[in-house]
This record gives sequence, structure tokens and C-alpha cells, in this order.
Amino acid sequence: MRFWIVGQSGMLSNAFQRYFVKRNISFFVTSREDANITSVKSLENVFESETFDYVINASGYTQVDQAEREASLAILLNSIGVKNLSILCKKYDKKLIHFSTDYVFDGEKKDGYVETDLTAPISVYGMSKRDGELQIAKYTDNFLIFRVSWLFDDEGKNFVHTILRLLEEKDAVNIVSDQIGSPTYALDVIEGVMELLDQVGIYHIANRGMTSWYLFAKEIALFCAENQIEKKADIFPIKTKDYKTDARRPMFSYLDTTKATAVIGKDCRDWKIALRDCLEKICK
Ligand SMILES: NC(=O)c1ccc[n+]([C@@H]2O[C@H](COP(=O)([O-])OP(=O)(O)OC[C@H]3O[C@@H](n4cnc5c(N)ncnc54)[C@H](OP(=O)(O)O)[C@@H]3O)[C@@H](O)[C@H]2O)c1
Repeated sequence: MRFWIVGQSGMLSNAFQRYFVKRNISFFVTSREDANITSVKSLENVFESETFDYVINASGYTQVDQAEREASLAILLNSIGVKNLSILCKKYDKKLIHFSTDYVFDGEKKDGYVETDLTAPISVYGMSKRDGELQIAKYTDNFLIFRVSWLFDDEGKNFVHTILRLLEEKDAVNIVSDQIGSPTYALDVIEGVMELLDQVGIYHIANRGMTSWYLFAKEIALFCAENQIEKKADIFPIKTKDYKTDARRPMFSYLDTTKATAVIGKDCRDWKIALRDCLEKICK
């Protein structure tokens, strides 16, 4: 069993690389210079020259606000690039493992989103990711799409590192308190992926529980206080309407993971436990 990870420097890619190295799982990874998802020829070189079973697409356009001003680039990477990969996976008989997002939903639902819920993105990023999902289903039948949300990891650019930095640099930090979702540790996503490798279709993976960005940040601050990590900023709640961003975000995007849990046979751990595990690794 050998994996090809598309995209080298990204957060999820790095988490996969560390996971595979630690467990002695065979893989290789390519950067956009080695294999550019916007170029069929560049991708096909890898399909022709390497031996592997699974393609992990850890690439993507992930700048949610910037996407509002760079729609064509977001669509090029998240939809057309994904279409290229899908066509080649079908041609070369490889399984495609892809990551989508809670931002494919509009956030109007009052309880957790299941895999079959209607997608209705409210941002360019969400729309480009939804298009990517549709391209995969159109061009290959041997695929896994994992919708994940509010990803954090011990390495890379993500909310946990941003809050740790802001707590150190600022006196006060305002964080949105009325958007609700499921913070999810990249490590737990990967463990879920490995458990579901034999499946096909769309799966939601998230740590258990839901919270707001504000309470997520407060939990990070609490860990710092408990561990005598000096941080000077106080955290204050702010409403979405008072915090202007270019892209709209779903107000409620809790992902129901019942489908994945039924196959795996156990629930993903609670987000607070996962966060503490992550923070312990960061602060070690
Ligand atoms: N972060 C989240 O909270 C979150 C939530 C839900 C879903 N997701 C999805 O999970 C996936 C990974 O997210 P992430 O946060 O790890 O992304 P990231 O840190 O922004 O990394 C993006 C990756 O895309 C690669 N890439 C960019 N343009 C490329 C191109 N033309 N050809 C090939 N590779 C290219 C980069 O490769 P190099 O720099 O190595 O060249 C980099 O490794 C994305 O599909 C994202 O939509 C993320």
C-alpha cells in the first residue's frame, strides 16, 4: 500500500507526512512544482512514473476571504484541478482521497449536517469546494471525500497557532462568538481516513462536540493559564455582524459524523481533549 500526497507544504499534507513516517507507511509527496494540479500533463507524469495505490489530495486554494477577490484562481485549484486529478485517477485506476469543507453548507440548519444534506455555499471558497466535490463524483467512482471543519494541528498556519501568537502580542483579542462548528485536529482526521480507506463516497469527520470560535480561543487561553504559559491578552466575544470579513461564513456548520462512526465503530474524541493533546505537543 503506497500513498501519493499531492501538495507538500500545506498543513494537512504535513500532518499526513508525519503520520506516515511515524508508522512506516510507504508514501511520496509532491509540491506544486513537481505536480501542478492545474496541468494534466504535469500530473500525468507522476501517474506514469510512480507506483502507488491512493492519491491523497492535500492541495487546494484555502484563503477563504481572498477567494472573494480571486474567484477564478479558487475555482482553478478547487474545481478544475480536482477534475484533472479525478479523470487521471479513473484512467490509471487509483483511489482518490479528497478533502472538502463544512463551508459547502449555508449554515441555516439547526442540527448537525449529514452527508446527504443539500449543499448551498455562501462564499466563493465554499462554492469552489462544492464544485470540486461534483467534479469527483462526475469523473470517477473510486473516491473518498472527507468534509472536515475548523482544522487545527500542532504545526502549520491555523487557529490554534494564531491565538497563541495573539495572546502573546496583544492586550485584547476579539473573537467571533456566534458562529458554531466543530474544531477538528488534523491527526484525528487522518486516523479517520485510515479507518475508512475501503469505503467510497462522502464522509464527515470531526472531533466530537461543537463550540464557537470564541470558546475555542478561551479553551486555548485556559490551557496556557493552567500550564503557567505567560499570555497577556484578554479574549472578548464579538458578533459576526461587528466583525467584517470579505467572505460570509456559515453561522452553524456542525458536522454530524454518524456515518463514519458507524463504520469505524467508535466516535472521534471530544474536541477539547484533542485540542489539549495538540497544545501539549506545541508547548513541549
Ligand atoms: N484548513 C482547514 O480548516 C480546512 C477545513 C476544511 C477543509 N480543508 C481542505 O483541506 C485541504 C488541505 O487544507 P490545508 O489547510 O492543509 O491547505 P494549505 O495549508 O493552504 O496548503 C495548500 C496546499 O496546496 C498545495 N497547492 C497549491 N496550489 C497547488 C497547485 N497548483 N498544484 C499542486 N498543489 C498546490 C500547496 O502545495 P505546495 O505549497 O507544497 O506547493 C499546499 O501544500 C484543502 O482542500 C482544504 O480546502 C481545510
